[in-house]
Amino acid sequence: MSEETLKVVVRRRQEQGHGVLVLDLASTDGAELPAFAAGAHVDLHLPDGLVRQYSLAGSPSERRSYRLGILKDPASRGGSVAAHAQLQEGTEVHIGVPRNHFPLAMDAARTVLLGGGIGVTPMIAMAFALADAGKDFELHYCGRSRAASAFIDDLAAGPFADRVHLHFDDEAPAQRLDLAAVLAGPQPATHVYTCGPGGFMDWAIGEAKRLGIPDARIHKEYFQASVDTAGAGFEVVAKRSGKTVRVDAGKSIVDALAGVGIKVTVSCEQGVCGTCLCTVLEGEPDHRDVFLTDEEKADNDQILLCCSRAKSERLVLDI
Ligand code: FES
Repeated sequence: MSEETLKVVVRRRQEQGHGVLVLDLASTDGAELPAFAAGAHVDLHLPDGLVRQYSLAGSPSERRSYRLGILKDPASRGGSVAAHAQLQEGTEVHIGVPRNHFPLAMDAARTVLLGGGIGVTPMIAMAFALADAGKDFELHYCGRSRAASAFIDDLAAGPFADRVHLHFDDEAPAQRLDLAAVLAGPQPATHVYTCGPGGFMDWAIGEAKRLGIPDARIHKEYFQASVDTAGAGFEVVAKRSGKTVRVDAGKSIVDALAGVGIKVTVSCEQGVCGTCLCTVLEGEPDHRDVFLTDEEKADNDQILLCCSRAKSERLVLDI
């Protein structure tokens, strides 16, 4: 992970939909911000020390500001609530340079973007990139209601408004997303991208698979995952540090290492962001993250320390 951060200022703050804070962040000296590719996110370093990841929701060709959408979730671990409370227009804050774990294939013959709720944010950046490149795509945005949904005005005003389809749970059945109709039939090789709540993602991914879209053309980004640290205890050898520690059931490797003075840098603590990635030298991980691909998990040479466990009695880590 890059530790490089940028100091930015909140240029504009809006509250949209139900509990969505839309922020435009600009550099403090007016200079252009670093370029980013659609699908990228930044680490937002909140004033009280919390670090959270948010997708960039503006056009990648817009370098004067980054747009973020932050859903206030009182049940979360405090990041979104702190952002809503602390980030006012004029507040200076640090962000990481953009990183992209959700890249967009610009050579796809056709692209279908599926955003559920706040998961629409990376889809907006992707729509800008695809529209700029003259590509064939459509964006489907699903939400509980029109009133609850953010970015409706951005989407209506964007250069790709005619390719945006809105679907709301409380409106007429005819406007609901019919993924079979979108993905079925003879058509060029389609790439599908989805981001949103877990239930929405499971449905979208399951439908895409059922309709014959191969895994390699289904792209997904989770913004929240439940962490399950249940399971038998195991031993971790921190080879570089020369320490061995027991990881009991219900405890994470990060917590166990902290107990012997080994500090692991974490951010999401949910197996989503990749910050706590570590090389496995020996042993078999029990992968519980949503960051590594299935192929990377099968290699068993990396592990996310905030959430994953071990299938073997012992893991030797390069830490
Ligand atoms: S801290 Fe984000 S994956 Fe572990």
